[in-house]
This record gives sequence, structure tokens and C-alpha cells, in this order.
Amino acid sequence: MKEIRFFRRRKGKAIKSSKMKLLEDLLPRLKPVLPEAGSFFEMENFFGIHPREVWLEVGFGGGEHIAELALRNKDVGFLGAEPFLNGVVSLLAHLNGSHHERTRNTELSEDRVDNVRIWPDDVRDLFPFLKDGTFRRVFVLFPDPWPKARHAERRFINQANLVHLHRLLSDDGRLYVATDVPEYADWALEQVEMSQLFEKENENTAVPPDDWVPTRYEQKGIKAGRSPIYLILKKKDKSLK
Ligand SMILES: C[S@@+](CC[C@H](N)C(=O)[O-])C[C@H]1O[C@@H](n2cnc3c(N)ncnc32)[C@H](O)[C@@H]1O
Repeated sequence: MKEIRFFRRRKGKAIKSSKMKLLEDLLPRLKPVLPEAGSFFEMENFFGIHPREVWLEVGFGGGEHIAELALRNKDVGFLGAEPFLNGVVSLLAHLNGSHHERTRNTELSEDRVDNVRIWPDDVRDLFPFLKDGTFRRVFVLFPDPWPKARHAERRFINQANLVHLHRLLSDDGRLYVATDVPEYADWALEQVEMSQLFEKENENTAVPPDDWVPTRYEQKGIKAGRSPIYLILKKKDKSLK
């Protein structure tokens, strides 16, 4: 069966020409070049550092979360996937240190954050090219809830993606899912239980994990009076199923 694509939009407001320069000059240096079908992407020499582990963020939005995590964990390699082009530009500006500069300086900065790599598209396109156990942590934060029952198959936390993420996480890996839509949290937990591939590790899902970096959506939701729900999912050993 052909997989459906389900992005609301790939590009929002017009991207300023100064920011286009980041897309043209910086993105090509940070974007994986996939090998031919059937081969694996070599992660080893992909980062500006030799990372002690690699973390994935699915749907990084404006990139604030992954950029801050990368600053706090300089020995970790980060891969972020986001098909929304304005979000990609925003992350590039964060990494380049040019986000808040009045001068809109988009010359490539020498001391830019160099432990983040970007897949500017659907993360699922990467899955077949990645080796088992590639990631120590995977973040799926405030995914599109697709509240209508007829759109349920579009929700990112589903059986097919849980199988991929289980394979791609290391044995001691963790999947972090956060949402401020209680029905989505229930759905995600049902999917997890059905898969028998993960188990919820945290008792109190109203409290963010240690060292949590809030995302843009999360902050907006809190301001609007919504309460985030945090799920820390521990990988189960498949052989014990
Ligand atoms: C509601 S936004 C949340 C953004 C960000 N995580 C935050 O909390 O601020 C969900 C994002 O997931 C992205 N997304 C949805 N499906 C995706 C996929 N298959 N691969 C990568 N990103 C995806 C969307 O483009 C969107 O930017």
C-alpha cells in the first residue's frame, strides 16, 4: 500500500532573501546524502564531532528545542527532521547564531553550532537507510494531533512508526513523546501497548523529564492554559514478547 503524505503545508510565510542564503549555503553541508536503496547511510563521519551518541528529533518545528539541546550536549550528534521549510530556516539561523541579530547577518559563522544535522523532509524517508540502534534518544514533541477519527492513520505514533523507532533505538534507548492533547496521549499509550515494543517509564506524566528544554508549541500551549503530558517510553526487548 502506498504511504500517504500528510503535511498541512511545506512552506508558510515568504522566506527573506537573507535567510534564503542560509538555505543555499548552510543546509547542503548539513543534509544527509542518502546512498542507493539497500545500503546504509554512514553516520560515523557525518557530524562535526565524533559523537558519543546520536539523538533524533522528529518534527523540530522552529528548531529551538534541538538547537538548545545541541548547545547543552556538545558531545552528542543531533539529527532533526522537519519538512516545513520556514522551520528549517529558523533552525539554520539558530545554529548559525544569526537568529536574533538585528543586522540579519547570514554569513556563515565560524563558531556555529556544529553537532546538528538536518533532514528537511519526512523523517520516514530516512528510516530504511539507518542501521539498528542508531539513536539513544528519539523525541516526538507535540506532533500534529489529527483529532478527527477519519484522520487517525495520519498520527505519527502508530504501529508502523513504533516498529521503525524500536529498531532504530539502542537497547537502552528512550522515546520521548509529549502532547497537550489528552486524547492524543491516550491514543499514543494504546498504540504503545498494542505494539508491545515499549513501556512507559515515568509515573507522573504531568512533570517534564529532567533537563527538559521546552518547545515553542509547548510554551504556546501553557500560555493558553493547556497542560502538557510527557511520556518517556523505554524500549522493550523483543525476544521477551
Ligand atoms: C505541531 S508541530 C510541533 C513542532 C515542535 N515539535 C514544537 O513542539 O514546537 C509538529 C511538526 O511535526 C512536523 N512533522 C509532521 N510529520 C512529520 C514527519 N513525518 N517527519 C518530520 N516532521 C514531521 C510538522 O511539519 C510540524 O512542524
